[in-house]
Amino acid sequence: MASGGKRIVFTGGSGKAGRHVIPALLKRGHKVLNLDLVDFPDPKAGVFTLKTDLTDSGQVFNALTTHYDFEGYERGHAETAPDVVIHFAAYARNMLVPDNECFKGNVTATYNVIEAASKLGVKMILVASSETTYGVCFSEGKTDYHSFPLEEDYDVDPMDTYALSKLCGERTARTFARRYGNDIYSLRIGNVIEPHEYERDFPTHVNQPETRRRNAWSYIDARDLGQICDLCIQKSGLGFQIFNATNDTITTKEPTAEFLKKYEPNTPVTREMGEFEGPLSNRKIREVLGFKEEHDWRRYYKP
Ligand SMILES: NC(=O)c1ccc[n+]([C@@H]2O[C@H](COP(=O)([O-])OP(=O)(O)OC[C@H]3O[C@@H](n4cnc5c(N)ncnc54)[C@H](O)[C@@H]3O)[C@@H](O)[C@H]2O)c1
Repeated sequence: MASGGKRIVFTGGSGKAGRHVIPALLKRGHKVLNLDLVDFPDPKAGVFTLKTDLTDSGQVFNALTTHYDFEGYERGHAETAPDVVIHFAAYARNMLVPDNECFKGNVTATYNVIEAASKLGVKMILVASSETTYGVCFSEGKTDYHSFPLEEDYDVDPMDTYALSKLCGERTARTFARRYGNDIYSLRIGNVIEPHEYERDFPTHVNQPETRRRNAWSYIDARDLGQICDLCIQKSGLGFQIFNATNDTITTKEPTAEFLKKYEPNTPVTREMGEFEGPLSNRKIREVLGFKEEHDWRRYYKP
């Protein structure tokens, strides 16, 4: 492990986001144990997965003091709680399971992870929240955003169960950070884009912008999400925080102000926005964490 590298327990690392975020964390010198129901998809990545059902609190408490790989046994001492816990496991949208199961599974797993980590003395916890909390992604019919840009102080008001489960996760984070004085950051993650998806999906995203309204014409590159997690880990001492986790720019050809004026004429814009700033703005991670995106969509698709 490189100096400064942390011992990280990561949940849900076998999923769409985690399979890119974990390699990004390993590249930056951290050590990672993956807790998931299924194996990490790339067997060559050197990621050890402990099959753990996070809705069972006993399993979560136990898993947090597991070796990171079999070499752990050579060190001659039992593993202690990790430096960092990153919780991504979830039913990652509605309509995978019935709503009550989505709510129960997500809220229970998030509670169990935050509680166990806090009670075991973990000082830094990151929790996946979602763009859906801004209330339009899974709303019934066409509903309007209250204003642009969407930032962390927005009065989030989702209609749907998945987003509600994510809001409960944010509240749980706030409660435990207040009780334990640790850092718990909720990441309102935008629509996650994997490397192979630019070529396949961006021609539609960019040329038919009406198809991206529910995502507020914003996205997060899965590898840039890895950078965001690493920057959070380096920035301790902020207590409970919410961070939008998105890339810098809008997924349209027109500049932001022009685009919003044309497509969302009734929604107020509350401050001057950057020429191509994403409506689901990442200003806070740029200013507070020093995020510098590496994967602007224009590198992969030229409209
Ligand atoms: N994909 C997106 O566009 C997006 C957008 C915003 C937020 N998010 C959030 O980011 C996180 C990661 O999303 P993703 O797209 O990688 O999801 P995913 O569905 O691809 O992966 C989720 C992983 O969690 C695991 N998991 C589910 N329930 C579990 C349990 N009880 N115990 C252990 N593991 C369990 C699954 O096996 C899976 O590997 C989720 O919390 C999701 O809600 C995703």
